[in-house]
Amino acid sequence: MNMNERLVSMLCDEQDVPESYRAGRAVVQREYLVDGELREWTGPMQDVYSPVFFVTGSGHAARLLGSYPLLTEAEAADALNAAVRAYDNGTGAWPTMPIEARIRCMEQFTQSMLDEKSSIVNMLMWEIGKSHRDAELEFDRTVEYIRDTIDAVKDLDRASARFTIEKGIIGQIRRAPLGVVLCMGPYNYPLNETYTTLIPALLMGNTVVFKPPRMGVLLHRPLLKAFRDAFPRGVVNTVYGDGQTVISPLMGSGAVNVLAFIGSSRVSNIIRRQHPRLNRLRCILGLEAKNPGIVTESADLDTAVQECVLGSLSFNGQRCTALKILFVHSSIYEPFLERFSAAVTQLRSGMPWEPDVFLTPLPETAKADYLAELVKDAEKHGARVVNEGGGVTCHTFFHPAVLAPVTPHMRVYEEEQLGPVVPVVRYDDIVTPLQYVADSNYGQQVSLFGRDTDTIAMLMDAMVNQVCRVNINSQCQRGPDSFPFTGRKDSAEGTLSVSDALRVFSIRTVVATKGTDSNKRILREIVQDRKSAFLSTDFIL
Ligand code: G3H
Repeated sequence: MNMNERLVSMLCDEQDVPESYRAGRAVVQREYLVDGELREWTGPMQDVYSPVFFVTGSGHAARLLGSYPLLTEAEAADALNAAVRAYDNGTGAWPTMPIEARIRCMEQFTQSMLDEKSSIVNMLMWEIGKSHRDAELEFDRTVEYIRDTIDAVKDLDRASARFTIEKGIIGQIRRAPLGVVLCMGPYNYPLNETYTTLIPALLMGNTVVFKPPRMGVLLHRPLLKAFRDAFPRGVVNTVYGDGQTVISPLMGSGAVNVLAFIGSSRVSNIIRRQHPRLNRLRCILGLEAKNPGIVTESADLDTAVQECVLGSLSFNGQRCTALKILFVHSSIYEPFLERFSAAVTQLRSGMPWEPDVFLTPLPETAKADYLAELVKDAEKHGARVVNEGGGVTCHTFFHPAVLAPVTPHMRVYEEEQLGPVVPVVRYDDIVTPLQYVADSNYGQQVSLFGRDTDTIAMLMDAMVNQVCRVNINSQCQRGPDSFPFTGRKDSAEGTLSVSDALRVFSIRTVVATKGTDSNKRILREIVQDRKSAFLSTDFIL
């Protein structure tokens, strides 16, 4: 069977899907959450198709999963106004609520989320083609992230539950919320990456307007009720639809205080520039990257191949942290390519519910065409696909293409492919990958492979001032979530880790007074009689 036949043979009849993974009836989501109400939308809807194709009586067809509202500027304004009212210039019930009470709301939400686990995981799988195992991991990681964030917010509160006396001034320093946060996550981690901004933003006392990514919308539906029931009205609001229609007026209003956006730098620039008062806007951005793997002469080939396969092709290479270009020293170039191609051939392709499946269909409709263009362009400039069946497509499935030798004339040398194309560059002089990183528009992470400590130390020292994480004999990755996750240049703005995220969604704020007897009496009375939500020495246990 050639690769094309193999890919076609992966397609099945919908009846062949094991019952517990079936998509079920199409979900017509008419409701959206605004001001503590699930409002019903009667206007135009957006159909949602799965990247999974089935064999039907009339040929191969993508599965219709459901539809969601295409809201207009008016509903977006309602959502924003609800968030503005709930914040109420920092005097609303949520921003002034004691942290312990906010934590209780978040715990209630987490419990409701756990109750909906199976439907969220299943829809995550159907909407973006993520394997069921990875969808489950994404869900579990998100719940763990919420729990860790709750612990971190308690720590933060404990650390500020005291007065500081300095040069005759008495002060209490705490972190205060920033206002209304617009949260927009990416399609590749529509649950996890959205919630890694939304949850800390909420816990710090901000109110939120949340727009799910274009792909990965319906999976959030079971959580709308959970948001409504767990938080005061207006604290969480949702918008759906075309970004130009619903996001532009929100930003143009000037009422958004924080933009939390994970996606491309092109789109983030369009969105942020719409804000009329840029100095008021804080931006927390996770953007694109082109993380290189540098395989040096002394690399252990088994480790390098294994980590480069995982790094470049986990979730079909659709991770911002994926290894998107490999530089391999010419002395080991041939054996590396041979083993790498063999390892890619071993990867299991199939449908997302299949056990141990590794490569699955891609959710972006034109993605396979785009990747094919990259391959064609590289071939035109002298590269070839070195693995069996590389680049063969079947509807939304694109069999990984390992391209070598890649040179600077090719588009794939610079463009972020975010998909299963692996460009391999042969180098003689270590200056080649070093210069690549220095010239790149991106600066997220790098992976170094080698055993010679002189070389690794030299490369590490050169790289730490170019990127934000240097991985040794390991693929690039975001986790563990307690580690800082950020990037230089066009790759990010602000740092996200469990504890850093709490900082980026808040600002250090001080109440201070000269240490006179009368001022001390005032402070004492306010604290003892618990007259203030801010000024307090309560210690969360
Ligand atoms: O797409 C970017 C994700 O944050 C990657 O996370 O490295 O843990 O897969 P990960």
